[in-house]
Amino acid sequence: MSETSMDKIVSLCKRRGFVFQSSEIYGGLGSVWDYGPLGVELKKNLKDRWWNAMVRERENIEGLDSAILMHPDIWKASGHVDGFTDPLVDCRTCKNRFRADDERIKGVPGEESGQCPACGNKGVLTGARSFNLMFKTFMGPVEESASEIYLRPETAQGIYVNYVNVMQSSRQKLPFGIAQIGKAFRNEITPGNFIFRTREFEQMEMQFFVNPADDKKWFDYWREQRMEFHTSLGINPDKLRFHPHGPGELAHYAKEAEDVEYEFPFGWQEMEGIHNRTDFDLSRHMEHSGKKLEYRDPVSNERFIPYIIETSLGADRLMLAVLADAYAEEEVEGEKRVVLKLHPSVAPIKAGIFPLVKKDGMPELARKVQEELQKAMPVSYDISGSIGKRYRRQDETGTPFCVTIDGESVSAGSVTVRDRDTLKQDRVEIDNLKSYLVDRLL
Ligand code: GAP
Repeated sequence: MSETSMDKIVSLCKRRGFVFQSSEIYGGLGSVWDYGPLGVELKKNLKDRWWNAMVRERENIEGLDSAILMHPDIWKASGHVDGFTDPLVDCRTCKNRFRADDERIKGVPGEESGQCPACGNKGVLTGARSFNLMFKTFMGPVEESASEIYLRPETAQGIYVNYVNVMQSSRQKLPFGIAQIGKAFRNEITPGNFIFRTREFEQMEMQFFVNPADDKKWFDYWREQRMEFHTSLGINPDKLRFHPHGPGELAHYAKEAEDVEYEFPFGWQEMEGIHNRTDFDLSRHMEHSGKKLEYRDPVSNERFIPYIIETSLGADRLMLAVLADAYAEEEVEGEKRVVLKLHPSVAPIKAGIFPLVKKDGMPELARKVQEELQKAMPVSYDISGSIGKRYRRQDETGTPFCVTIDGESVSAGSVTVRDRDTLKQDRVEIDNLKSYLVDRLL
């Protein structure tokens, strides 16, 4: 896929109500996006698939929803206050700010050879300075440094500081995990590519607490499990790969790390990170909070600080991968169609309901069918335009089935169900319609 198809995805998302620019009527807010009626359904379905796979279908993983605002010392302990920075350079002429490793600024920051892409001048870049990516705000009525707090840049820390609470209340023993889905905020300097890198985003993170002796075994286990999850969403396996981090790439907390990468229209990029974080986080929180976070094995009585294997996936990034993977333009019955071949389980709308004509009892029967189906799934009633046009409208938003109510439906109680991908039409009894669709949505 080329850059053009990225433009096509962005324009489809806006036209059909998946994603809008934040604060659009005020000129927009940089790299912040709002999810419209279909986008909120798609993202929710992706989060539900993740939650089911990680929490509900496992006995040894518990859910959590920790607050976005946390004690500021947590970010000192985690290393974010000192280390969560990007080196930046400023152009003295046009005042634009760039990452020091930005390829477009050609030259060494602080030296005369620099060339700035915005104003085109040479020799005007400052030396590199660190810039913290955390959003800062104030808690309480006084805006002073003592009341400074941060919007969390990852959900993981909320899990670490609740690890004992969760373990004790749920009577878990190692190995076990804690999962959460929530917003994170980063004042990214080079955001971009639509919802790929944004300043406000959602993470789906799971932290798995293990005996240090078993870290490699669990790292390898989670690496496989996570890839299986992505292919279970219908993502083309040829567009997925692992990228192991070399020693120079490893984050300060990681002993081993691999990304799951997807081949986006703009190239191979990280979608999910799997890290062996060792005992770094719990040791630091022990040190900074003064609380004991050791684990005592009930069988061997061995005491140790658990190692953590983390899986961290961006919900927005996953949604972009799923959209890019599903997008297709095809010739069907001599006509061009745009279709999102979304896995039925994540499609925002499961069935379109079309009365063939606006008379002979068809609209009334179609409303009855709608009422019955919408107890089990999101559906969309559409009476305007030709059936072909109505199919195209649903194809473009990824609706897997279209149900047409015709004369035979009124006289004999059956409808046609058209499959988005095979285009095959089945005649189905109205009484069996709900279970026919439910069986095909998993
Ligand atoms: N707790 C570990 C952690 O946060 P990360 O590699 O910084 O690790 C994990 O982020 C995942 O979160 C990424 O793989 C990506 O999917 C998502 N993510 C990170 N920064 C993002 C951003 N600015 N916009 C959208 N998603 C982002």
